[in-house]
Amino acid sequence: MSLSNLLSIQDLDSKIIWQILHTADEFKNPNGGKPKKVAALNGKTVINLFFEDSTRTRISFETAAKNLGADLINFSAKGSSVSKGESLKDTAQTLKAIGGDIVVMRHWASGAAARLANANWIDASIVNAGDGTHEHPTQALLDVYTIWKHFGDDFSKLKIGIVGDILHSRVARSNLLLLSKLGAQIYLIAPRTLLPMGFDKDHSTLPGVSVSYSLDAVLPELDVIMELRIQQERMEGGFFPSATEFSNLYGLRKERLSKLKENAIILHPGPMNRGLEIDATSADSEKSKVLEQVQNGVLVRMAVLFLIGTKS
Ligand code: CP
Repeated sequence: MSLSNLLSIQDLDSKIIWQILHTADEFKNPNGGKPKKVAALNGKTVINLFFEDSTRTRISFETAAKNLGADLINFSAKGSSVSKGESLKDTAQTLKAIGGDIVVMRHWASGAAARLANANWIDASIVNAGDGTHEHPTQALLDVYTIWKHFGDDFSKLKIGIVGDILHSRVARSNLLLLSKLGAQIYLIAPRTLLPMGFDKDHSTLPGVSVSYSLDAVLPELDVIMELRIQQERMEGGFFPSATEFSNLYGLRKERLSKLKENAIILHPGPMNRGLEIDATSADSEKSKVLEQVQNGVLVRMAVLFLIGTKS
């Protein structure tokens, strides 16, 4: 199976998932430090097309493209003609006229990456860098890479807790699909108001997925705790009574750290709301792999661009 676009984890079988992970590992510098540079995409152009704010994803795709020797165009909706009402179609056709081989797109609308891939507006491969509340496939791949490096190949022995604002989280959706494909046991831990339709304590629609309304009930069993950002910008109305109550019940806080397994790790996709879903002691603890996730993001995004850009 070759990689033409990366729109959803749903499109990936286990062979291509492991190919991406092993390719990312090839780019790792054995002496530590910056990833290897390989001029595999010389002559290719990568376009970063960002309609929504980003720090980690945009910068790591930019670094990944440069590490592979590609030319790079950075487009941000802020400061562009999008503010004058230009449509996605016209923006895409403008970029087509300029020329691009791979478009990495973040968009506030769920399904925008698939729309761009399926419309005939641009002759380029499309990588979904986060679309609305739908998916963020490269985030899930870098999370899984980080877990793999810590625990090894056998995901079936791992219990992974995804905690907090699951309802609005494209990171949670992509991780659910990916971790489920790899055979991990997944706990969705959230108040009922922050769980998507189809998930409650007695039902879940994916194999290996359980739901808990109590973090404290499952915390000691977890190998990985993935705290999610509370996405206040996507919330209209109250999803929980107060920030203090959410933090008391679902936040990873100093007093909960000692209840984690000795070898457990903490993940957070960023940006973190310190003091809400995670406190400073937990975010900066030895168990926290937050900055390792960022470093691994460059390797995984290099792998994705490499596999797409060199496909025959
Ligand atoms: N994790 C993530 O997508 O972060 P950014 O919004 O900073 O890219």
